[in-house]
Amino acid sequence: MPKTAICAGSFDPPTDGHINIVERGLKVFDRIIVAVAVNTSKKPIFDAEERIGMMRKIFANHDKVEVDAFEGLLVDYARAKGVHTILRGLRNMGDYEYESQMALANKTLDPDVEILYMMTEGKYAHLSSSIIKEIITFGGSGCGMIHPVVEEALRKKLRNRE
Ligand code: COA
Repeated sequence: MPKTAICAGSFDPPTDGHINIVERGLKVFDRIIVAVAVNTSKKPIFDAEERIGMMRKIFANHDKVEVDAFEGLLVDYARAKGVHTILRGLRNMGDYEYESQMALANKTLDPDVEILYMMTEGKYAHLSSSIIKEIITFGGSGCGMIHPVVEEALRKKLRNRE
């Protein structure tokens, strides 16, 4: 049976750090489902369709990556998909505190779920979706931080907001 993991996030927008986690995850898993959270407690700049569309373009040539969306609890989505492993990236101690809380809550909700963490590669450890939005807002380049598809979408979105 193929080993599958779910890599979930709000991806508003996805960064090269997220992409790197999925690509490295494919060394461990046969298939990765990138699950875009439709309802997030954050106020996303991109709607769900836009976030899914960006992920689909980014992973268009990866036949082992499926891009999907989910609403509600992640553990319910994982169960519905028949997947028991959730893959997340960990950048720093701040992430650790947030992630450990989430992992424990998810484990309480569904003891069958396993949450695995990969250390974010050093060159992406400073990245976040918020930092990217700020860089592009003030005219900086997203080179080495976001996929060109994301940079184009972000520039367009910010232009339309003006
Ligand atoms: N490289 C670069 N940046 C990274 C990263 C990496 N490897 N991993 C995380 N980040 C950054 C993101 O850019 C983002 O930055 P921001 O805070 O500036 O927006 C932040 O870390 C986290 O975003 P993301 O990775 O997209 O995930 P998230 O924390 O927004 O998503 C869900 C969390 C969707 C998985 C979680 O809220 C969830 O499961 N929701 C469904 C409801 C549920 O089941 N809740 C759990 C009950 S405990």
